[in-house]
Amino acid sequence: MAELFSVPQGCFRLTRQPYRKNELLQAWDAADDYLLHHLAENETLAGQNIVILNDSFGALAVALSEFRPTAISDSWLSQQATRENLAANVIAADHVLLLDSLSLPSTPIDLLLIKIPKTLALLEYQLHRLRPLLRPDSRIVAAGMVKALPANAWKLLERLVGPTVPSLARKKARLIFASLDPSIRPPQNPYPSYYRLTADEPPLCNHANVFSRESLDIGARFLLQHLPDQPGYRDFIDLGCGNGVIGLRLAELNPAANVAFVDESFMAIASATENFRSRFGDAPRAKFVVGDCLSGFAPASADCIVCNPPFHQQHAIGDHIAWRMFQQAHAVLRPGGELRVIGNRHLNYHITLKKLFGRCRQVAANAKFVIFSCERA
Ligand SMILES: C[S@@+](CC[C@H](N)C(=O)[O-])C[C@H]1O[C@@H](n2cnc3c(N)ncnc32)[C@H](O)[C@@H]1O
Repeated sequence: MAELFSVPQGCFRLTRQPYRKNELLQAWDAADDYLLHHLAENETLAGQNIVILNDSFGALAVALSEFRPTAISDSWLSQQATRENLAANVIAADHVLLLDSLSLPSTPIDLLLIKIPKTLALLEYQLHRLRPLLRPDSRIVAAGMVKALPANAWKLLERLVGPTVPSLARKKARLIFASLDPSIRPPQNPYPSYYRLTADEPPLCNHANVFSRESLDIGARFLLQHLPDQPGYRDFIDLGCGNGVIGLRLAELNPAANVAFVDESFMAIASATENFRSRFGDAPRAKFVVGDCLSGFAPASADCIVCNPPFHQQHAIGDHIAWRMFQQAHAVLRPGGELRVIGNRHLNYHITLKKLFGRCRQVAANAKFVIFSCERA
């Protein structure tokens, strides 16, 4: 349900994405509210080049839309929320320029507004990339909820941008004001980073915001040992692909099959694309899709979907995205097709999977994880 976000810039109807009928969480937090009050009281915004980083669901972009800001995010869902929230408030889509996390604004930045992301590596990457667009008189304001603001966020700003001054906390939110120190010589941007699965394979590329970017996730490692081996499958989907490690192995085991890599993170899809190309070249059998679960896929178009689902969306923990993935997988599988899922034991995915598919077989289990296979009737 849309809720009203009332700030000095106006009163806006905002919803989160993906949309849920009985959503309990707001599409903004007290840090958005604090930041917008600060801007109204202290900044002249007209004619300024404003860049917003990591706006969760468009609260900042919508509230500042009259100043034509640029909003940079790694999340397709955040961008979609911004588009929907602009439309819901009758604001033309072109009032906000949406850029993905690997793109840069084309002109110097007067005001940089940063929501501190969950993954600090993303912030580190962003500061490296945006520093050349900052000037000594650019204003830089970072915002976050106190409980989600690691000390390293400060250190990163000081190391890569310049001196910082914290605000007082308000409603459990805090602002950090930073200014550019032109004398700092930042080290080389460490992203993307690479690790090897085996000595004879090309290294795996991991952009800064990719899940388990430093080494193979232990769940993914277990899933790799229990991938489907039905010879008849033609169309595979690696759903929530991250760096693509699961889909790459499917492509290797099934050389004649098509594999679609899907993720809502732009950096995940950029990593999976590079990883596929370094192994298989520009083979047309791979498709790379940035989007929400399987929204763009036709019903009954896949033989096998393999998934290591997420258990949080930004700072919110829960299985709602996993549940959407299972529902959509059920719709996108052909009759006789298979969904193979790994989950932490305590998540009890088999209960929801049984409801959807009627049956659900346990393929493997260890102390931490269970792997299920569900056949589409
Ligand atoms: C647990 S990670 C698994 C990554 C990779 N498959 C692996 O096993 O290492 C879950 C992935 O789901 C992605 N994800 C989260 N929400 C999504 C959504 N709504 N649609 C598509 N992918 C999503 C995350 O970005 C993340 O890459």
